[in-house]
Amino acid sequence: MHFSLHLISTVALAILSTGVVAVPKPEGVGAVDISGRSTCYSGRYYGPKGCTNCPKGYSCSGNGDPQACGAGTFQNTTGKNFCYSTEPGTYQPNSGQNSSIPCPKGRYQPYSQQTFCYGAPTGRFQNLTGQATVCGVCCGWYTDKVDSAQNPQLTGANIHKCPAKTPYSGSSSGDGASGCSAQPKGCVPMKTCVEAANGTCPDQTFSG
Ligand SMILES: *[C@@H]1O[C@H](CO)[C@@H](O)[C@H](O)[C@H]1NC(C)=O
Ligand SMILES: *[C@@H]1O[C@H](CO)[C@@H](O)[C@H](O)[C@H]1NC(C)=O
Ligand SMILES: *[C@@H]1O[C@H](CO)[C@@H](O)[C@H](O)[C@H]1NC(C)=O
Ligand SMILES: *[C@@H]1O[C@H](CO)[C@@H](O)[C@H](O)[C@H]1NC(C)=O
Repeated sequence: MHFSLHLISTVALAILSTGVVAVPKPEGVGAVDISGRSTCYSGRYYGPKGCTNCPKGYSCSGNGDPQACGAGTFQNTTGKNFCYSTEPGTYQPNSGQNSSIPCPKGRYQPYSQQTFCYGAPTGRFQNLTGQATVCGVCCGWYTDKVDSAQNPQLTGANIHKCPAKTPYSGSSSGDGASGCSAQPKGCVPMKTCVEAANGTCPDQTFSG
């Protein structure tokens, strides 16, 4: 009795494992989604020509239409069921895109999955594209096109020496040379302007 039960379960196991290995589920045939449309493998969708690779900029689960990657994400390859988040130093303001965009000069983005880059505040700057941190403090210099409103349309910003009548850059932000002052406003240099102005970031990370 014990012997025959063991034999039966061994045979059943052999049939089960043979079935799993030998018969992969066909794609686009048989199984349908909730709207009655054929399902496809992950990374594909059911189109006019049957199961088709998901286009760039989209994610496909195998059921239903391709889903556009949202702003702050992208997909650079066909046939995928996910979107990449933008990495620090890059952004993507639109949906359905095939790449991320490096932050322009004068801007930076410390976080992933973002739709804009921050503008460097007055007296600070970033002279390189695609950066995650703002560069050193330059007292006596100002950044044009300051953008604390996180406007993704604004492109890069540059650093300029404050005019002779208002030679000090302050701790507060302001647009263009209006960020400069006739009186020192508490700007604390981290490097000399010569050091920082060559585009080398000091050993410092953005926090907050
Ligand atoms: C797509 O983007 C990802 C994430 O940035 C990257 O790892 C991958 O190499 C890129 N693939 C292609 C084909 O560019
Ligand atoms: C990415 O999309 C843009 C349009 O948004 C298109 O001009 C470009 O050719 C695409 N690049 C690739 C590699 O698919
Ligand atoms: C930029 O300045 C730093 C600090 O003084 C220096 O170490 C570096 O060599 C400079 N880089 C270039 C490319 O001039
Ligand atoms: C920024 O870098 C460029 C070259 O990469 C250089 O010509 C320019 O002088 C730099 N500007 C500042 C303010 O460092």
